[in-house]
Amino acid sequence: MPSDSKHDAWSMGDSYEHYMGRWSRKIASSYLEWLKPPAQVDWLEIGCGTGALTNAILAKADPKSVLATDQSEDFVKHAQKEIADPRAAFGQAQAQNLPAADASVDVVTSALVLNFVPERPAALHEIQRVLRPGGLLSFYVWDYPGGGMGFIDAFWTAAAEVDPAATELNESARFPFCTRSGLRDLCSEAGLAQPEVAPIEIATVFPDFEAFWKPFTMGAGPAPGFCGSLDPDHRDALKAALARQLDSGGEISLPARAWAARANI
Ligand SMILES: C[S@@+](CC[C@H](N)C(=O)[O-])C[C@H]1O[C@@H](n2cnc3c(N)ncnc32)[C@H](O)[C@@H]1O
Repeated sequence: MPSDSKHDAWSMGDSYEHYMGRWSRKIASSYLEWLKPPAQVDWLEIGCGTGALTNAILAKADPKSVLATDQSEDFVKHAQKEIADPRAAFGQAQAQNLPAADASVDVVTSALVLNFVPERPAALHEIQRVLRPGGLLSFYVWDYPGGGMGFIDAFWTAAAEVDPAATELNESARFPFCTRSGLRDLCSEAGLAQPEVAPIEIATVFPDFEAFWKPFTMGAGPAPGFCGSLDPDHRDALKAALARQLDSGGEISLPARAWAARANI
């Protein structure tokens, strides 16, 4: 199953914020509580998106500096515009080719990104290149295979009813390594001894079904990218299938769980 899909739409920061960024902010905060990083050190972030984790690092981790990078020019511009902090710098970069010298940062982190990187082992080697000896490598990904991203799971279940081709676009099928053992295996393949892997959980709460549905129509991210590719009849059928599945007259609350890994080099 390929890591990338033509529906992985990484642009339109405001739409992404509505779809995922607001939950990214919530989990970034819980992640840092788990990570307990050292203060006054140099950070590099891979795949900063609209800046959810960048913001949390600046607010909670007392960094000396943060270089936030993403492959998407659009997202980098969005994050740069939102975050005015002299400790933060931004750059457009691929995970496999980081804009930092050898042994130049103390912590490299990445939020909800590594599953979208096709060359994951290369990225983990690149991270180790830029880390200082003893530096901290840490990342987290949604627990797609364990049904740990409830609202996305619900979307793809309904999408498969309307278009069987959606089955293979479901992140749970695309990213089978997003499990506790998958993260451990990935880390050991990259030569990282004894990584710690832990679940981080939040709740995603929507006041009603219309609020649940709207972000899927806004274009940013894999599920909204797929939704936007449907003709109006199929989109209506998908919405109806999703409403039937959730069977909600009011608030919709679904769990979201990520697996986080950390290892010192
Ligand atoms: C689900 S978003 C996560 C964004 C942000 N970290 C957050 O927590 O909301 C995935 C991000 O990974 C970026 N991305 C995907 N593949 C990448 C790669 N090979 N190198 C760098 N960034 C990548 C995308 O542009 C997008 O911003």
